[in-house]
This record gives sequence, structure tokens and C-alpha cells, in this order.
Amino acid sequence: MVNGKLHVIDHPLVAHKMSILRDKNTSVKDFRELVSEIGVLITYEATRDLPLTTKTVETPLCKAEVPTLKGKKFAVVPILRAGLGLVDGVLRLVPSARVGHIGMYRDEETLEPHVYFCKMPKDIAEREILIVDPMLATGGSASAAITEMKRRGCKNIKLMVLLAAPEGVERIQTDHPDVELYCGALDKGLNEHGYILPGLGDAGDRIFGTK
Ligand code: PRP
Ligand code: URA
Repeated sequence: MVNGKLHVIDHPLVAHKMSILRDKNTSVKDFRELVSEIGVLITYEATRDLPLTTKTVETPLCKAEVPTLKGKKFAVVPILRAGLGLVDGVLRLVPSARVGHIGMYRDEETLEPHVYFCKMPKDIAEREILIVDPMLATGGSASAAITEMKRRGCKNIKLMVLLAAPEGVERIQTDHPDVELYCGALDKGLNEHGYILPGLGDAGDRIFGTK
């Protein structure tokens, strides 16, 4: 489903794998593998508009003009920590992508997100950026990450998440109307602690087995 800049991936494999992720009895190993697999499937959609050019190759039969990706200016930017779980899925499809890391923490009193770590390729401003994080809940972390990337001169930014809440989608559309948002599913809303319902729990804890 596409609604303006929101793309909800409508594919039976994504739907099936998301349902296994939601199950609280899914093991850390399976959870991690599924996050990566869904990452591949969403990346396929999120890269659909990558620009192509042509080049000449010689097939066993003749010379041919064939399509090839134009330039190799792509970077994936995981929001630490849970975003790390999506990086290898992106790299499986775009192996030459650079990887920039951005760490966010939330001030316990104001709940405002802050950047505590940011290490980017030098030419990041010239690259197409795919920010990845499994969860878009209030949207505070993703919005702040996008703001930081824009501050570094990036202009072509997409956001990829596994699960989004309507509140997070609205936040991104308000703060960053230029950003295309790709998600594996759109859930009902948030609980009083800012967790997505029905959701899948704490993505970072489930990927890294920290609970
Ligand atoms: C989770 C998730 C997002 C954020 C979403 O990270 O991975 O980054 O929460 O919430 P928001 O949309 O309300 O900002 P968390 O802060 O739990 O850190 P973690 O990745 O270390 O688990
Ligand atoms: N962060 C998570 O990991 N899960 C949620 O449901 C919300 C924020």
C-alpha cells in the first residue's frame, strides 16, 4: 500500500515473517534471522527507484547494452542499537553500500532523543541514505536521526522500519515531509509506555537477547 510517502509492504512473505516476530515465544536466534530476512524484502522495495544507466557487455553471443546501477552512492544508516539487526539484509542486496552509525538516547525527564554517537562516511552528503530501525513508535528517534543527517548535508533520505505506529508515521510526515517511509506493517497505536500495539516488544532486547 502506498499513501503519499508511506509504503506499507504488501507481501505474503513479509506478513508471515512479521507474525513469527510478534510471537513472544520466538527464540532470539529466529528473531534475529527473521529481522534480517524482512530487511532484505523491504530493501527490495525501498531500492525500486535507484537510478539506472547502461553499459556494454559481451554476452557469449554478441555485444549488448545492458542496465546497470548509476553510481555507487548509497549508504545505510542504522539507528543504534536495534537498527543494526537490519544492516546485513540491506548489504545483501546492495553490497557496496557504505554504513554510517547513529546512536540515540532519550533524556529520561524530557523524553527528547539526543544523538550520542555519529560516525559517517566522509562523502555522506552526496549519498542516498537509507536510515534503518525496526521500530517507529512515537517517531522521536527516527525524526531526530533524519534531522542529524540533514544537518550533515544529506538530501535524499529514506526511512525503513519493520513496524510503525500511526503516531510515528504522522511525526515523520510532519517533521520531514520529503522522506519516503517503508514499513513491513502498520500497527494500531501505542500503549502508555510508548510501545507499539500489538507490536513485537522491545526490538533491541529481542535481537540481542538482553532481557
Ligand atoms: C527503540 C527502537 C527505536 C525507538 C523507537 O530503540 O529501536 O530506535 O525505540 O521509539 P520512538 O519511535 O518512540 O523513538 P530503544 O530506544 O529502545 O533503544 P535500543 O535500540 O538500544 O533497544
Ligand atoms: N521500541 C521498541 O523496541 N518497541 C516498541 O514497541 C516501541 C519502541
